[in-house]
Amino acid sequence: MFKHIQLLGFLSLALGASLVSAQGGQACNATTLCGASAPCCSEYGFCGSGSFCLGGCNPLYSHALDSCKPEPVCQDSVHTFPDLSRIVMNTTYYDGNATEHDWTLDKGQIINTNSSGGELALLLTETNGGTRISSTRYLHYGTVTARMKTGRWGGVVTAFITMSDIKDEIDWEFPGDATTEGQTNWFWQGVIPEWPTTHGTTVGNLSYLTDTFQNYHDFTIDWQPDTLTWLIDGNIVRQLKASDAVVNGTSNYPSTPSRIQLSIWPAGIASEPAGTVSWAGGMINWADPDYTAAGHFYALVQGINVTCHDPATAPVGATSYVYGTNQSAFTPSIAFSNASTVSAARGLLADATGSFGVWTVACAVVFSLVGAMLA
Ligand SMILES: *[C@@H]1O[C@H](CO)[C@@H](O)[C@H](O)[C@H]1NC(C)=O
Ligand SMILES: *[C@@H]1O[C@H](CO)[C@@H](O)[C@H](O)[C@H]1NC(C)=O
Ligand SMILES: *[C@@H]1O[C@H](CO)[C@@H](O)[C@H](O)[C@H]1NC(C)=O
Ligand SMILES: *[C@@H]1O[C@H](CO)[C@@H](O)[C@H](O)[C@H]1NC(C)=O
Ligand SMILES: *[C@@H]1O[C@H](CO)[C@@H](O)[C@H](O)[C@H]1NC(C)=O
Ligand SMILES: *[C@@H]1O[C@H](CO)[C@@H](O)[C@H](O)[C@H]1NC(C)=O
Ligand SMILES: *[C@@H]1O[C@H](CO)[C@@H](O)[C@H](O)[C@H]1NC(C)=O
Ligand SMILES: *[C@@H]1O[C@H](CO)[C@@H](O)[C@H](O)[C@H]1NC(C)=O
Ligand SMILES: *[C@@H]1O[C@H](CO)[C@@H](O)[C@H](O)[C@H]1NC(C)=O
Repeated sequence: MFKHIQLLGFLSLALGASLVSAQGGQACNATTLCGASAPCCSEYGFCGSGSFCLGGCNPLYSHALDSCKPEPVCQDSVHTFPDLSRIVMNTTYYDGNATEHDWTLDKGQIINTNSSGGELALLLTETNGGTRISSTRYLHYGTVTARMKTGRWGGVVTAFITMSDIKDEIDWEFPGDATTEGQTNWFWQGVIPEWPTTHGTTVGNLSYLTDTFQNYHDFTIDWQPDTLTWLIDGNIVRQLKASDAVVNGTSNYPSTPSRIQLSIWPAGIASEPAGTVSWAGGMINWADPDYTAAGHFYALVQGINVTCHDPATAPVGATSYVYGTNQSAFTPSIAFSNASTVSAARGLLADATGSFGVWTVACAVVFSLVGAMLA
């Protein structure tokens, strides 16, 4: 139940504040769409162009349904992290080319802990506000397995989720004070639907779920049009039927193309609501010996596998997903498209409407904090 708070709080606090001032407060939402000159509503709820139109751009809050760039189509894939070459290290320069990169580093720092090819570490420091990577491709249903180790510190949350641009979301979350448990959750269009029971559940007391900090485990989100299944090491631990997620005749089941996101984030900090802090296992102890020894908290990812389950077969040449109208049912129709997902020129350099400056300002604020930490 605290995830909704987190959605609003995570990156938006860091990036959003500077974006607001730089953009003169051009916020976007369901009732106030973006204008023609800055047509794209970013995942943080601000209008712009260029990078604003890429991953996370909300078609329903943007100037027109096709203002956001089409979403790179799903591809069956096996991801390992022998190095960081498949990751866009600065989203400022991401141009939407999902052939060139598999992931974007949206915030924070990552390192490769094993030069002979093994582990991606997501870092949390007292000043970086957490780290998140997102897949460049989307899946419109699919099975995703992440082989990972979580944090083990109260207040530090490790997460592996799928998130659509209109905020359909499926979660695995790991509060760091409980390393033999995992939490599952799901959201429909950013809200916690009316539901007979709470969406979030905790699974644990499983013979095979040994300490998630010490040991790698495979966490799976198996998202099919009719069922949503969470698995650990191949064992089903939770299942939701789409038919059980109908509220007053409207399907509240996640149905829109989603990016895969992995993150480590600080929930146990003063700026988070008390309920979130308590859920996450209390305030973070920045004097923890693990932290002082390494200079950061971390979560490790060894591999991520994706199998696509598109409800229809992609036509030859399909490159992307686009939104169509179906607003009466609150369920947008999704279509394949052969339109390019790539901006005409690289990232912000292509942006003719002045949001380059906005992003530069926003990023400068965030990265100067990072710089201060590294110094
Ligand atoms: C939508 O954005 C407008 C303009 O910023 C704001 O006045 C309004 O309160 C927002 N509505 C909601 C529901 O947040
Ligand atoms: C990302 O690119 C922007 C624009 O050039 C730059 O200001 C910023 O310092 C870069 N960030 C990092 C972490 O290199
Ligand atoms: C995307 O990247 C690939 C690999 O680097 C390259 O071959 C292709 O030309 C790029 N596509 C566009 C439209 O820039
Ligand atoms: C580095 O990764 C490789 C491949 O996964 C593995 O065989 C090796 O044991 C790892 N080395 C260390 C020092 O962790
Ligand atoms: C991904 O698939 C490869 C090839 O089948 C397999 O070796 C690997 O263990 C899988 N990794 C995960 C995280 O499922
Ligand atoms: C594990 O078992 C204990 C003792 O029965 C119980 O209190 C706890 O709620 C269980 N945890 C989970 C996640 O099921
Ligand atoms: C479902 O319908 C009932 C009766 O009209 C109404 O009270 C309730 O608020 C509705 N729930 C939602 C989520 O729309
Ligand atoms: C429109 O939404 C309804 C209800 O969710 C769904 O059954 C139908 O398939 C959708 N139509 C299209 C064209 O996607
Ligand atoms: C997309 O498909 C249409 C119809 O087959 C074709 O005319 C068009 O050239 C294609 N566009 C691209 C970018 O491949």
